[in-house]
Amino acid sequence: MDAPKEIFLKDYKSPDYYFDTVDLKFSLGEEKTIVASKITVFPRVEGSSSPLDLNGVDLKLILIKVNGKELKEGDYYLDSRHLTLPSPPSGKFTLEIVNEIQPQKNTSLEGLYKSSGNFCTQCEAEGFRKITFYQDRPDIMAKYTCHIEADKSLYPVLLSNGNLIEQGDLEGGKHYAVWEDPFKKPCYLFALVAGQLESRDDIFVTRSGRQVSLRIWTLAQDVPKTAHAMYSLKAAMKWDEDVFGLEYDLDLFNIVAVPDFNMGAMENKSLNIFNSRLVLASPETASDADYAAILGVIGHEYFHNWTGNRVTCRDWFQLSLKEGLTVFRDQEFSSDMGSRTVKRIADVSRLRNYQFPQDAGPMAHPVRPHSYIKMDNFYTVTVYQKGAEVVRMYKTLLGTQGFRKGMNLYFKRHDRQAVTCEDFFAAMRDANDAEFANFLHWYSQAGTPVVKVTSSYNANAHTFSLKFSQEVPPTPGQPVKEPMFIPVAVGLLDSSGKDMHLSSVYHYGTLQSFVSNSQPVLSTVLRLTKKEEEFVFCDIFERPIPSLLRGYSAPIRLESDLSDSDLFFLLAHDSDEFNRWEAGQLLARKLMLSLVADFQQNKPLALNPKFVQGLRSILSDRSLDKEFIAKAITLPAEGEIMDMMEVADPDAVHAVRTFIRKELASQLKSEFLSTVQNNRSSKEYVFDHLNMARRALKNVALAYLASLEDPEITELALHEYNTATNMTDQFAALAAIAQKPGKTRDDVLADFCSKWQHDYLVVNKWFALQAMSDIPGNVENVHNLLNHPAFDLRNPNKVYSLIGGFCGSPVNFHAKDGSGYKFLGEIVLQLDKLNPRVASRMVSAFSRWRRFDESRQKLAKAQLEMIMSANGLSENVFEIASKSLA
Ligand code: ARG
Ligand code: ZN
Repeated sequence: MDAPKEIFLKDYKSPDYYFDTVDLKFSLGEEKTIVASKITVFPRVEGSSSPLDLNGVDLKLILIKVNGKELKEGDYYLDSRHLTLPSPPSGKFTLEIVNEIQPQKNTSLEGLYKSSGNFCTQCEAEGFRKITFYQDRPDIMAKYTCHIEADKSLYPVLLSNGNLIEQGDLEGGKHYAVWEDPFKKPCYLFALVAGQLESRDDIFVTRSGRQVSLRIWTLAQDVPKTAHAMYSLKAAMKWDEDVFGLEYDLDLFNIVAVPDFNMGAMENKSLNIFNSRLVLASPETASDADYAAILGVIGHEYFHNWTGNRVTCRDWFQLSLKEGLTVFRDQEFSSDMGSRTVKRIADVSRLRNYQFPQDAGPMAHPVRPHSYIKMDNFYTVTVYQKGAEVVRMYKTLLGTQGFRKGMNLYFKRHDRQAVTCEDFFAAMRDANDAEFANFLHWYSQAGTPVVKVTSSYNANAHTFSLKFSQEVPPTPGQPVKEPMFIPVAVGLLDSSGKDMHLSSVYHYGTLQSFVSNSQPVLSTVLRLTKKEEEFVFCDIFERPIPSLLRGYSAPIRLESDLSDSDLFFLLAHDSDEFNRWEAGQLLARKLMLSLVADFQQNKPLALNPKFVQGLRSILSDRSLDKEFIAKAITLPAEGEIMDMMEVADPDAVHAVRTFIRKELASQLKSEFLSTVQNNRSSKEYVFDHLNMARRALKNVALAYLASLEDPEITELALHEYNTATNMTDQFAALAAIAQKPGKTRDDVLADFCSKWQHDYLVVNKWFALQAMSDIPGNVENVHNLLNHPAFDLRNPNKVYSLIGGFCGSPVNFHAKDGSGYKFLGEIVLQLDKLNPRVASRMVSAFSRWRRFDESRQKLAKAQLEMIMSANGLSENVFEIASKSLA
């Protein structure tokens, strides 16, 4: 292998040649597929004569012509990754290439490949180069036609982007279709699908009266499971019109569900391709979480039509330009369709559990990375989730209308262009004449800022002061950081728990007053820009309890001097519901950390009765939303606590979390029992917030109860399992029972498997549940499951369920004897031969090995070194493993 090459943002150069039109012709066959392309090329600078460099990987070149004339060897250079024309004609010319590929042998699931006998494509980020020779970069935007030819009985459906302009039969049992996409696009948005598929059809009428045909394609037997996806699509189309004034721009929108897919889904122009787990749902087979994920991802891919496709990225470093923005949009969509607070809690938890650790580890990178070896490794929680937080901060600073003005200007300036994060920033700023200080650091500095705040009340001056200091921790390649621009939303509670009216705040010689004759100001956004600064609220007539970082207004770690009793007060009274939840989490985190210390010193564990009392009052508060209660009584995850420790101790954290859960279950047993009884589902499954909230609360209560050693509870859980009428309840009961090793567990797991063996998506849940289990010595069970007839290392969903699930179990993956690490090391090497992209996602589980004690460090490091020494390692795995060891 050539030494993998690192690519840098600072080296970006405009292409020397652009492409205007691209005509593709595919002859799909059982042995091989022939791809013919005809591209019109023009130089960026008239008269220039630089070489034209095309990307191409795993392609067999058959023919190349320039302006109709065939090139001979010597007229071009070909290596394993490039086809170069050293001296193309000056001015506009046509380039024709014919090459051969073998989709049936493509296990990487990038480029053109087969899934369940059907052909499909995945081109983002750099998969198009596995289809044909091309300038595979997003700033090359061209108009495509796509001609597909295939056997008619094997591949009755032939799809590509845009509009179907021609189709017909051919000799020898073949047929063809010609698709034309009127919008120019980068090649990563190209898609082709051919196979035996059936569709659910519907129609959406846009607000300007355009009729859009909607089709969701699946294997025939799955069509009934596409109703929720269709509902989600129509809801998303309507929402984008209502909230952003954005309409769909073609007459046809296709979604295809495929079982073999590396990621969640892909926004190819008018032909979205989805991992089938994010399309297929029925109440019997999919849980509330699946329904919610489908809604969010269908929305996400649809929203890309404007944020990603109409306006795309200049280069891959700008990925967050489309992904951060589109995640923000899908979060807002899901909020509007359900509960805003609950959605915010879920999104912030995800950020803390996955993005914070990445930002504090060897793979830490800014929202806009400075370099990469393999772009695929940068489809990360930082680019996506932290990127969405960055977009959210614009909205927090500008307000809903200001944000919308910024979006409008962004589209006005950049429609049909490939642009950068600065362009987005400039549109937000210019549309609002805003002063954004050093906001751009959010794109360039990695690491989670730590903000400390202390408060003091001056009873004589009637002022309340908040003193902030901020620090961005060092990350690889960035030892020293500048202060960031951090919006901190703040409200002040009076002694009755009501928001005080804010009159003015003093900040370095400027007095900002909030006098408004209409509405009292109950919350304000402080703008931190310095390493240290102070804000002083005036006319404050009693000592307030500050509610800080309301709605989680910035992706930071906030350390405040609030006391436990302040936090209990906020938990009970804050008008900002997110901060009520947050106060409970802060209390739980403190409690868990102090019990971890006790555990490590062999002290007996005891639970603070005030904490139990706090949860009891939440649990019985009828004014609260039930899903909010479910979230508020859920303890922070083990990873979140480990992330806060000097040396992560998975055994101690696990023991403490288990202890607290059990203690709460026994002290709140009667409350939990009545919660289960009073929140059973109605017969008919309804996907709406009210019903989901009932199920969520009931199932959290059941999970608590099942932590007890209690035959009465086992009976209850079995009853819930046997009487469940939907997957949410059935699976929750299964998970509850599976907490305790023993015969009941084995029997019910076996029962579930035989019930659902015909449905691979449900079987994946069964794999994941066992993989994540914390029962002692689970690695052996997981090892055996590799040989289960339903398991297949070539299918990413199965790998994510079983291997990924296992790596998410703190106790078993981090088993002291290194058995978990050894298991993963072996699997990574096997996987890398099949699918480097999936392998590199798995190897990431090792990346935080330095966080653990010395003996674990040694064991994990040995596996990383073993991986690094393997022959023929992919660039994907090389990048993660080598950066982890650096
Ligand atoms: N753009 C897709 C999304 O909606 C992700 C596709 C990434 N896939 C890949 N193979 N790199 O988020
Ligand atoms: Zn996306």
